[in-house]
Amino acid sequence: MSEMIKKAIFPVAGLGTRFLPATKALPKEMMPIVDKPMIQYGIEEALACHIKQFIVVTGKQKRAIEDHFDCAFELEEKLRKSGKKRLLEEIKKLNEINIAYIRQGYPLGLGHAILCTKPFVKDEAFAVILSDDIIAPEDTLLKDMMKLYKKVAAPILALQRVPKSEIHRYGVIDGIEEEPGVFRIKKLVEKPEPEEAPSDLAIIGRYILTPDIFEILEKSEPGKGDEIQLTDALNKLLRKRPVYGYVLKGNRYDAGDKFGYLKATV
Ligand code: G1P
Repeated sequence: MSEMIKKAIFPVAGLGTRFLPATKALPKEMMPIVDKPMIQYGIEEALACHIKQFIVVTGKQKRAIEDHFDCAFELEEKLRKSGKKRLLEEIKKLNEINIAYIRQGYPLGLGHAILCTKPFVKDEAFAVILSDDIIAPEDTLLKDMMKLYKKVAAPILALQRVPKSEIHRYGVIDGIEEEPGVFRIKKLVEKPEPEEAPSDLAIIGRYILTPDIFEILEKSEPGKGDEIQLTDALNKLLRKRPVYGYVLKGNRYDAGDKFGYLKATV
């Protein structure tokens, strides 16, 4: 049987240009969806799957993320004195989450962000969460992916069917459906033109990866957008071992996009 997934990686070094000027000084991941920053939804989703170790791959202007998950002594004192127990508990639990931070330095792409975690992940399988993809809290996507991982002991990418007009924003798969909603992936294309897309199955921001991805990423050349693409590395990996896709059953909000952000808020 395959080992448990204990770690989740959050790549957050991106510049958040789609939300400028809001993201000039505020990390995109700290933009609130009602009363919680975006990244906290992803962390809570992983905690619900019993993942307790987090690695945030961070960059310039992202300090607010570290502060958010740190102790806020004065605030806690104030809340204690004014008897705001529920809020106090909510604030305190943020500081109890076990998060390590790695600086990406140069934002060379998602593949590079993941490669930065190699010395800390070493030889175990791990989850990757892209925090601007908000999965409805009642949905069990990551849980289901972990269940599937237990069975197949192979990398698993979360998938969603998207309209042709949006396909150019995603990594897209070609695959064979082995059981309902589970695809054995044959090929991946990063952000194809609509006519080149091998299907309407887009990769969304949840992955379970195995440590053999690191050696491929180490040898990876920049791809689309001049970035080291995880999609390209996975394309090489699937020549060596099976890679699966798992289709999301519930709802996802692309909070990295203005309209998606509004929908997530509503
Ligand atoms: C990244 C991946 C892409 C994936 C997407 C999901 O792209 O490169 O394959 O479909 O995340 O959100 P990004 O949105 O970071 O440009």
